[in-house]
Amino acid sequence: MNGRQVIAIDTRIEELKEVANNGLKVVMDAAELGLQPSSFEVVSSFFSLMYMVQGCHPKVFRGIHRVLKDGGIFLTWDVKIPSRPAGKALFVVPLRIVLPDTVVDTSYGVRWHRRCQDLAYFKALARKTDFHAVREAGSRKGCPYGDRTVPIDVGEGFTPSR
Ligand SMILES: C[S@@+](CC[C@H](N)C(=O)[O-])C[C@H]1O[C@@H](n2cnc3c(N)ncnc32)[C@H](O)[C@@H]1O
Repeated sequence: MNGRQVIAIDTRIEELKEVANNGLKVVMDAAELGLQPSSFEVVSSFFSLMYMVQGCHPKVFRGIHRVLKDGGIFLTWDVKIPSRPAGKALFVVPLRIVLPDTVVDTSYGVRWHRRCQDLAYFKALARKTDFHAVREAGSRKGCPYGDRTVPIDVGEGFTPSR
């Protein structure tokens, strides 16, 4: 959305190629951020933490803390993944993304390991990595997709405690 001001990273080049804007796109692992310290006002993660193994979340948060400027903010949108019920292999979240000029209907899915993640998990992780939560922009119960409703925690904002 902010074009040239943005550096977008992903481990998969195909994902970056899908983006049609003039921001800088770099193949990079969020757990190994090769970016200058204290160089960003905002870091955002949109349904990406759900794709990472939980063991690397602390490293991701610490790296984000390092690259944020004083007073910067880490914004993350992600999903609550409950305990895996027997017999289910995949966790899929249907999503309607309402942007100023368009609406995108999509779904994101991951292999459903034995992990759970929710708002409390991310807040505890943020505290452990020296952030403090500055806002919770909302917690919606479910998407309007018939009876396939999934709890979604949206719009977390964390800022470094320095
Ligand atoms: C749901 S997609 C979101 C894509 C994009 N951020 C957007 O807003 O459209 C999640 C992305 O996280 C990427 N991803 C997973 N693990 C990653 C990691 N360790 N570092 C960087 N990107 C990762 C996946 O390749 C996938 O493209």
